[in-house]
Amino acid sequence: MRVAKDILRSVQQGLSSRRAEALLRLVVAASALLLLTVYLQRPLYASESSKDLEILDELKIMLVVCSSDSKTLVDSTDRQVQQAKVSIKAAIFLSRRRISFYIVSDSQAIFNELVFSTKVWPTAYRERSSFQFVASWYPPGHEDMRGLFRPCSSQRLFLLRLLPEESAVLYMDSDVIFLRPPEELWQIFSEFGERQFAAAALDKRDYNYIPEEVRMTDMGFNAGLLLMNLTRMRQFPGGWEDQVLNITVTYSDYLKFGDQDILNIFFAKD
Ligand SMILES: *[C@@H]1O[C@H](CO)[C@@H](O)[C@H](O)[C@H]1NC(C)=O
Ligand SMILES: *[C@@H]1O[C@H](CO)[C@@H](O)[C@H](O)[C@H]1NC(C)=O
Repeated sequence: MRVAKDILRSVQQGLSSRRAEALLRLVVAASALLLLTVYLQRPLYASESSKDLEILDELKIMLVVCSSDSKTLVDSTDRQVQQAKVSIKAAIFLSRRRISFYIVSDSQAIFNELVFSTKVWPTAYRERSSFQFVASWYPPGHEDMRGLFRPCSSQRLFLLRLLPEESAVLYMDSDVIFLRPPEELWQIFSEFGERQFAAAALDKRDYNYIPEEVRMTDMGFNAGLLLMNLTRMRQFPGGWEDQVLNITVTYSDYLKFGDQDILNIFFAKD
């Protein structure tokens, strides 16, 4: 958490005040969770009773796993499904809370496969997890956004529609693996200021390809892991979805990383 704050501070120092204010809508929180390997160890909390679990809030995690005809490994259905299985397993294994997973997909079969793979888990882990299928959805006339980057990765832009009942969610890419309990990340919600509704980790990629007037800094944030307060997003002036679609059309020539760029532009715009 200290690292997160230091990075946030250094980002703010590096910004003009106008940009800094724009960025205040976004808590940039670095987390040690975006790592590439699984480090399996016994959870620290394995001995806690189930009574302790009940008093803690349930975590809500959203993942997108869509089918794909692509023959390339990076876009293939199989890669996404196998990675999602590991991501889900790591989250539950390390958490002491209940986790509700929302699996956004265009395929009920993919959802069934993911849930089926949990049947062999020890009861204690199965009892703490639940899974809901959320049918993939795009606004009429914008169905082509499905192919914007990875197969329907842009679904995270429409999470207000996909999760109409939810107030807050942790979005994760299917290639993210937790190395620490996900509740530590969820805890960052409590650090949000009144006007903040999202948190993400810095991405040290060169963002110079995005027009300067809608670029946050030379760095941007990675959209692979997002904390989103949906209640606040629903109150966003101008409407979240309209703004996002406007950016998609207006900046279509600059979207190298698809919806991640759309989100970066959204938070950098005045
Ligand atoms: C999200 O925002 C609403 C409205 O400000 C607030 O009541 C709620 O506690 C927030 N949720 C989280 C998880 O911080
Ligand atoms: C996007 O929003 C701007 C400013 O509100 C407006 O001028 C423009 O026409 C909109 N573009 C589209 C494609 O909706």
